[in-house]
Amino acid sequence: MPVNLKGRSLLTLKDFTPDEIRYLLNLAADLKAKKRAGIPGDLLAGKNIVLLFEKTSTRTRCAFEVAALDEGAHVTFLSNSQMGKKESLEDTAKVLGRFYDGIEFRGFKQETVELLAKHAGVPVWNGLTDLYHPTQVLADCLTIMENIAKPLNKVKLVYVGDARNNMGNSLMIISAKLGMHFVGIAPKALFPEEHLVEEMRELAKTTGAKIEFSEDIAAVDGADAIYTDVWVSMGEETQFEERIKLLTPYRVTMDMMNMTHNPDCIFLHCLPSFHDLETSVGREIYEKYGVAEQEVTDEVFRAPCSKVFDEAENRMHTIKAVMVATAGR
Ligand code: CP
Ligand code: NVA
Repeated sequence: MPVNLKGRSLLTLKDFTPDEIRYLLNLAADLKAKKRAGIPGDLLAGKNIVLLFEKTSTRTRCAFEVAALDEGAHVTFLSNSQMGKKESLEDTAKVLGRFYDGIEFRGFKQETVELLAKHAGVPVWNGLTDLYHPTQVLADCLTIMENIAKPLNKVKLVYVGDARNNMGNSLMIISAKLGMHFVGIAPKALFPEEHLVEEMRELAKTTGAKIEFSEDIAAVDGADAIYTDVWVSMGEETQFEERIKLLTPYRVTMDMMNMTHNPDCIFLHCLPSFHDLETSVGREIYEKYGVAEQEVTDEVFRAPCSKVFDEAENRMHTIKAVMVATAGR
């Protein structure tokens, strides 16, 4: 069956079939090659896109803007609208749906992006909520495809850290969809919601995926990729003390990379990262708790095995694929 995603929203990859996800990844690779070849695009010509941000962003905002402009769309960035304050989400969605051909939302509640999609009448794309970060994990899989000489269904992806955040959830979901071996390594208190794990394990039975969790970092053995994320996600800033206690043993170090026994194992991180003291938040945490490197050491972050900037670039190519597939001409 040919894949047709026109008019579809991307709220979570749970809603997409494995074939649809593979289609987006292949389209992203094609669009990346097209951009590298200097071929101008017009797949979004005449389209208008609005970007709604409740939370801060560097990559996601810039990826949506550049991707839209590359393919001929116009973009509005909106971070101080009436939405939810003086105007309901439903009314805002109906208004924006009259003006725009696609809406990106980054914010707190998953329900917000769902409500927007229900009422807008145009595709809505989740640019990160507390629960999911679907465009990020598309970029992550494209980076794995480019850097690991194995089909995705032979890849062991190990996520270490806060396994119940938007990244832990989304990496588990895409792994289950694409038949990957996913291992979440975290203290039990930070394992994902049991119902989501069960749902993904059911799905894994049909895709050949394996979904495992462990508290023991020795479970990195045989990993093709080690992935981590910040210990405290946006909106959880009161949790630093507890997370430092829980997650310090789970910091990604060179010793942990070596415990994979795979010299080709790559390191991935969605970014931004606290790997040194070059940020105001990082320095504040250092002064308060004495922790200079949080979720990953500077050594691993800067090592040849680290593909974090390829991954960041791939945000743009994969987001372009999502917009072209769902709202393109
Ligand atoms: N990875 C990611 O979503 O980065 P931003 O927060 O900078 O958008
Ligand atoms: N878990 C992080 C991801 C940032 C891209 C957060 O939500 O802050």
